[in-house]
Amino acid sequence: MSYVKSCVESSVESDVGTDVESIVLPDGLRLVQGEEGLALVGDEKRYGKPLSVDFVAGKAAHRRRFGGGRGQLVAKACGLSKGVAPCIVDATAGLGRDAFVLASLGAQVLLIERVAAIAALLEDGLKRAVSHSDTADIVARMTLRHGDAAQSLAELVASAHFSPQVIHLDPMFPHREKSALVKKEMRLFRELAGDDNDAP
Ligand SMILES: C[S@@+](CC[C@H](N)C(=O)[O-])C[C@H]1O[C@@H](n2cnc3c(N)ncnc32)[C@H](O)[C@@H]1O
Repeated sequence: MSYVKSCVESSVESDVGTDVESIVLPDGLRLVQGEEGLALVGDEKRYGKPLSVDFVAGKAAHRRRFGGGRGQLVAKACGLSKGVAPCIVDATAGLGRDAFVLASLGAQVLLIERVAAIAALLEDGLKRAVSHSDTADIVARMTLRHGDAAQSLAELVASAHFSPQVIHLDPMFPHREKSALVKKEMRLFRELAGDDNDAP
C-alpha cells in the first residue's frame, strides 16, 4: 500500500548517540547495558522491574498483532484511516509506545524526547528493533531526536528533514494508571520525566 507522501527527505536515523555513562540520573537509579539491551534499574522493592524499551517482544508485539489497528484511540486522534498515514511528530515520545503503534500502521513518526535517559532507552529499543524482521520496516519509519519540543520544535523538525502534518502530545497526567505493577513502572519513569507540568 502506498501512502500520501514522504515526510522525510533523508534516510531515517537517530541523532541521540548518547554516551550513556555521561547521563546524570536521580539518586538510586542506574542505566545498565545488559544482554537484553539498555535498562534503567532501581531498587526493585520501590521501583519494580528494570525499565527498558522493547519494540520486538512483550506488550509492543502483542499490540502490533492484536491491538485493534486504526481503531485505536491514538490512531484515530492522529488522523490515520484507510490509505492515509500522515507524517506525525510525537513531541512527548516517552517510551515510544504511541509512536510505535502509529508507525506500525504506516505513519512516519518523528519522536522527540527531552529527558536524556529516556531518549537513550528509546534509541536502544530502536536499534534492537531495526535488526529484527518483524519490526525492521516499522522502525524504519521512526526517527528520534533528543531535545525539548517546547523550546526547539522547529529546529528539531528541520534537523530531521521532516514535514509534519500532525503533532501528537501525550503529557504525563497524575496517577492515570491503577494497578500496583504499573504504578511501580510509572514511579521509575516519573523519577526521570518529573511531573511534566510544563509539557507542551
Ligand atoms: C506520558 S509520557 C509519553 C508517553 C508516550 N506517549 C508513550 O506512548 O510511551 C510524556 C513524555 O513526554 C516527555 N516530554 C514532556 N515535555 C516534553 C518536551 N517539551 N519536549 C520533549 N519531550 C517532552 C517527558 O519527558 C515524557 O517522557
